[in-house]
Amino acid sequence: MSVFRPGLFKGKVALVTGGATGIGRAITEELLALECRVVIASRKEERLRNAVQEMCPDSSTLKARVCNIRNETQVKDLISFTVSEMGKLDFLINNGGGQFPSGVSEMTLKGWNAVIDTNLNGTFLMCQEAHRQWMAQHGGVIVNIIADMFRGFPLMAHTGAARAAVENLTKSLSVEWAEDGVRINAVAPGSNIYSPTAASNYGDLKIFEHVREGIPMKRLGTPQEVSSNVCFLLSPGAAFITGATFKVDGGASLYSYLNWKIGDEHDQTFEHGYPIKILTHFDLLVDIKNRR
Ligand code: ADE
Repeated sequence: MSVFRPGLFKGKVALVTGGATGIGRAITEELLALECRVVIASRKEERLRNAVQEMCPDSSTLKARVCNIRNETQVKDLISFTVSEMGKLDFLINNGGGQFPSGVSEMTLKGWNAVIDTNLNGTFLMCQEAHRQWMAQHGGVIVNIIADMFRGFPLMAHTGAARAAVENLTKSLSVEWAEDGVRINAVAPGSNIYSPTAASNYGDLKIFEHVREGIPMKRLGTPQEVSSNVCFLLSPGAAFITGATFKVDGGASLYSYLNWKIGDEHDQTFEHGYPIKILTHFDLLVDIKNRR
């Protein structure tokens, strides 16, 4: 299912990291629906195998490759696999990433480095290698999936720092690579996009339980609402857009109920099958403090 016209990406090839689950999976499904051929990458082989079976068992249309994006050799292999198996690489979607909730006082250097390594260094390696092996000669479009870290990211300082750095990297590359015909933009989903994978990543903190009050639109977002934004940025409709960040957060990053109160009576009907609220960061902080 897609809001875009059927066949929009016929003849195109996309590489989606973290493409087996959550937002990455929604992106992969929409690309396939628009007749794009896709390679999905993840560290977990079984996850990839199941995703391919469920989404599209036709191996000429959807292929999977195990890759740890922190590892330069594996990243080089992933890009060369895509180019040799699919013949080209038009679109790169850097969606693979991860983090864990922790205050900075409690965080180890190892934990900090792991999150920076995946989210920042992994994205750097993927962009660099896609450019070296294909896009410098043929052009292409890159979309980096970041996060709502625009007012800081308490209890997620590592990923906030990494995602802010990826946003800045996106701006630098948009200028460096414009002459090669490469466009590169970022999409920042709010912490209010519900998917079962995202929920399980937050463990027992039940992050998706009470978020509505922080969202002007008074509902959660869906992975499909992120995916349609990515597809727009990949499409010719975005041909003059590069170095930009699009927020997909129902206005949450702009909203403070201290200066503008939107009451619960303005709840918007949530049509997508996820009638769940999210914990605010304040609730999370209290939860973590209570557990000390
Ligand atoms: N998703 C989360 N972490 C990842 C990693 N290191 N490599 C690829 N995909 C990932």
